[in-house]
Amino acid sequence: MSEKVYVFDTTLRDGEQAAGTRLGSREKLAIARQLARLNVDIIEAGYPASSPEDFEAVQLISREIEGPVICALSRAVPSDIEACGKALAKARRPRIHTGIGVSDIHITGKFRDEKYGTTLAEKRVKILEMAVKAVKLAKTYTDDVEFYAEDSGRADPAYLFEMLEAAIQAGATVVNIPDTTGYAVPEQFGALIRAIREKVPGIDRAIISVHCHDDLGLAVANALAGVRNGARQVEGTINGIGERAGNAALEEVVMALRTRGDYFGVHTGIETREFCRTSRLVSDMLGMVVPPNKAVVGGNAFSHSSGIHVDGFLKDRETYEIMRPEDVGLAESRVVLTARTGRHGLRDRLEKLGYALSQEELDQTYQRFLVVADKKQEVFDEDLVAILHDEIHPVPEIYHLDYLQIYSGTSSIPTATVRLRVGAEVKQGAAIGDGPVDAVCRAIAEVTNTSAKLAQYDIRAVTSGTEAMGEVTVHLEQDGRRVMGRGASTDVIEASAKAYIDGLNKLLSVARPSGDVGSQQPGV
Ligand code: KIV
Ligand code: ZN
Repeated sequence: MSEKVYVFDTTLRDGEQAAGTRLGSREKLAIARQLARLNVDIIEAGYPASSPEDFEAVQLISREIEGPVICALSRAVPSDIEACGKALAKARRPRIHTGIGVSDIHITGKFRDEKYGTTLAEKRVKILEMAVKAVKLAKTYTDDVEFYAEDSGRADPAYLFEMLEAAIQAGATVVNIPDTTGYAVPEQFGALIRAIREKVPGIDRAIISVHCHDDLGLAVANALAGVRNGARQVEGTINGIGERAGNAALEEVVMALRTRGDYFGVHTGIETREFCRTSRLVSDMLGMVVPPNKAVVGGNAFSHSSGIHVDGFLKDRETYEIMRPEDVGLAESRVVLTARTGRHGLRDRLEKLGYALSQEELDQTYQRFLVVADKKQEVFDEDLVAILHDEIHPVPEIYHLDYLQIYSGTSSIPTATVRLRVGAEVKQGAAIGDGPVDAVCRAIAEVTNTSAKLAQYDIRAVTSGTEAMGEVTVHLEQDGRRVMGRGASTDVIEASAKAYIDGLNKLLSVARPSGDVGSQQPGV
């Protein structure tokens, strides 16, 4: 029997940290349920000390999710570790993930205060002490303690080895080797993991984990090189979302280990047929579109179009396919719900999406579902996620789009006129723009007098054909807050206007600071 590689999912922590939008606890719970169905071994549910919302999400997931280990992140700081201990109190299998920066760049850059010592050598001693204390404190809450040596990819190996030895001696059962900045290259990273396995005293008492970032597009390759050289836990996120360029995409790592079992000689416990569903859920919830050419879960990952390929594929699938679409859940038809779908069918679909609703919530959702089904004939998972977003976190409709008129053509300046209702008041305005979408956004900005900046705009076709339903997602920024707005219509200009107004309504109703784990690391 081959050895098992444990799969550690950090979509809800490292992934969400970078998404530009924050999820509520119930949305995180829905993703956690789907991750449990995917059968990941560990779910990193959040960083409890970072915000009351994160604390609450870790608590809720700990209470509700059975099966995977539930993990929470902390710095090597007693108050962080205590917050993890409390948030994980109800978890059946809790893990605390604590650690500290080990590269000289992190040590000198983040621990400038003289209380950590004045020379690099003094600071190294102090940081090692803090790491040991953190692991020991975490052990008072749970036996399962993972230690991360942040920025291992750029650390002095001798100091890294010393740190790992001390962490294991203090009780760490997993040692995480993050390439925090995505600096490593596969051969070198693989050699580092091999050296850790060969040189760190006591390493046989711990599992080596790899946590790779994608700044150079090498996260998956580095993670695989780690496994090839002895790592037995891989960390990553669904769709590879995460800080900056993201984390290793778990669906890619797992399918590489499975498809190339001949080379890696290991296995995971992942239920790979859940990958597409999980990918869609994460993409819909966070409003982060999956590129069509994305490996494993992209819309084109199993499409063949050139004559030679199609001809070969039709004769023998294996000529151009190394994985079967059904193995990643693609063969499962996209569920099409219609107005004739009763409450039972809707509940079943919602449960598959990870939502367990009360009867009252189901009734409300069903009414909204019928309105959408009437308009669209077919209702897709992403529509349901949008409906649930509204039901769970209803956004007060401060601005309502009453009327929209666009004047555009190949030889005219795009001009938009919009009329919005604000309570009993009606406001109207017009603007020109570089294109019709730009014109409509400018007209809305003028009418609402907003200072919000349009930070991101994405559009995708939810159905196919020229009458396709287009879904627009915008990210708006104002005073350090960032929110996501969505809008859907068969008219992409209208979808854009709706998304923009939805974002403005959220900005006016949500007053939540963004919490970024990375930015809080230096405050140790
Ligand atoms: O990238 C990183 O170093 C991390 C640690 C906090 C594990 O995310
Ligand atoms: Zn990370």
